[in-house]
Amino acid sequence: RPAEDARAGRPAIAVVAHRGASEDAPEHTLAAYRKAIEDGADALECDVRLTADGHLVCVHDRRVNRTSNGRGAVSALELSDLAALDFGSWKDGLEGRGVLEDVARVDGRPVDAGEEPDWQQENAERTSVLTLERLLELVADANRRVELAIETKHPTRWAGQVEERLVELLARFGHTKPATPNWTPPVRVMSFSARSLHRVRAAAPDIPGVYLMQFLTPRHRDGRLPPGVRIAGPGVRILRAHPEYVARAHRAGHQVHVWTVNEEADVEMCRDLGVDAIITNRPKQVRTQLGLR
Ligand code: G3P
Ligand code: CA
Repeated sequence: RPAEDARAGRPAIAVVAHRGASEDAPEHTLAAYRKAIEDGADALECDVRLTADGHLVCVHDRRVNRTSNGRGAVSALELSDLAALDFGSWKDGLEGRGVLEDVARVDGRPVDAGEEPDWQQENAERTSVLTLERLLELVADANRRVELAIETKHPTRWAGQVEERLVELLARFGHTKPATPNWTPPVRVMSFSARSLHRVRAAAPDIPGVYLMQFLTPRHRDGRLPPGVRIAGPGVRILRAHPEYVARAHRAGHQVHVWTVNEEADVEMCRDLGVDAIITNRPKQVRTQLGLR
């Protein structure tokens, strides 16, 4: 069968939860990542941005307008500004209902720490801004290995500082250097920007880079990637149009991690082509479809 042939000698396909289990819970919230771990995701994908006061937070868009009840660019806001926003209610169609009752929260916790009932904590984890630091803690506390695929978003305003902060934080968690002789890095950094990947590699050469591609340019058609980058990250549309790309990237010595694969037919195609990782909003359904336990 083609699926078996394409993956012969390679480990099982990794299932990566895109922005957490973002079909079920608001993207980039602690609730979405907890659910992804429960759902058996091998890795968690998250986008990071730097706030005006130097905190790395998990937010996809340049501005907070789509995923919160606030407005403005993340890079121009401070963490305390983000703490006052509701990052979850848009998902339930409750935008503007003030579910957080005006309590400023980061990572699901009130900023002026106080105890609160579990249900309130759960609700807060679905609605408050998430720092990368808290996500790293969540993964560190998991009762199995869960990897992180962290994406730097075309850094402009804080270009250079995003990567610097990121490497600092990863170093604090012991993710930048081999811990044992058989160490395999639990974190990888992804970007559409080769320059951003280069900055991370210069500071932390052991962290693998994933070069994200929206289109297959002539320069990369043969499977080659920017210098030092180990993993190709094509959008699923690239594979629909150029299925031969997977074999070419493998021949060039690279893994292939595909985004964002939510349709059953695309999961099937990815399996048949022998990709190494599927990045999806629906980790549970994809694992079931792939027959993974
Ligand atoms: O995993 C890569 C993928 O997330 C890139 O696209 O826009 O969802 O960040 P985007
Ligand atoms: Ca992303």
